[in-house]
Amino acid sequence: MKPVVERAGPADLAALCELEHAVFGAESYPGFFLRQAMALWPDWVLVARPAGGAEPVGYMLAAKSAREGEGWILSAATHPAWRGRGIGQALLQQLLATLDAAGLTEIRLTVHPANTVAVRLYERAGFVREARDGAYFGPDQPRLIMVRRKPV
Ligand SMILES: CC(C)(COP(=O)(O)OP(=O)(O)OC[C@H]1O[C@@H](n2cnc3c(N)ncnc32)[C@H](O)[C@@H]1OP(=O)(O)O)[C@@H](O)C(=O)NCCC(=O)NCCS
Repeated sequence: MKPVVERAGPADLAALCELEHAVFGAESYPGFFLRQAMALWPDWVLVARPAGGAEPVGYMLAAKSAREGEGWILSAATHPAWRGRGIGQALLQQLLATLDAAGLTEIRLTVHPANTVAVRLYERAGFVREARDGAYFGPDQPRLIMVRRKPV
């Protein structure tokens, strides 16, 4: 199954909120943030729909940093029922191609060190481990910081 990956639009907002909630629960981004992200970085909020399907089953969100040439991936989620079918990889490839084309040269993200599925996905796309912060989001909330430098 090859998903259709495209820019999210305001019509996707309710489905994106449901997806965020299904994946991240109480730690979801609220809808008002997602809506404003679409306004700020319209090319960098991508959804994946199953071929022929209307509702997004996966999405990724990136933002530009104030540091020249740097972007951050802020969210990556595939609905639990749709995992392991290449949706995450398709979203990541398209997002990185878009970020490369926008002239960004360093893409960073954070991920829980025990999240081996996500770490592997990022490593396959060229991310390397840059640092580990044992209390990134507070006590006992460690994150790996990963970076992908644009291939020359
Ligand atoms: C990380 C995540 C976005 C990947 O999405 P995905 O659509 O499953 O990604 P892909 O299908 O492209 O690849 C997932 C990997 O998991 C494997 N996998 C297979 N079946 C799976 C299943 N039922 N569930 C999860 N992963 C599975 C895939 O084979 C693949 O690994 P491999 O290429 O080494 O074999 C998804 O697991 C997710 O939403 N996780 C929870 C949120 C999260 O951790 N986000 C990242 C925070 S930094």
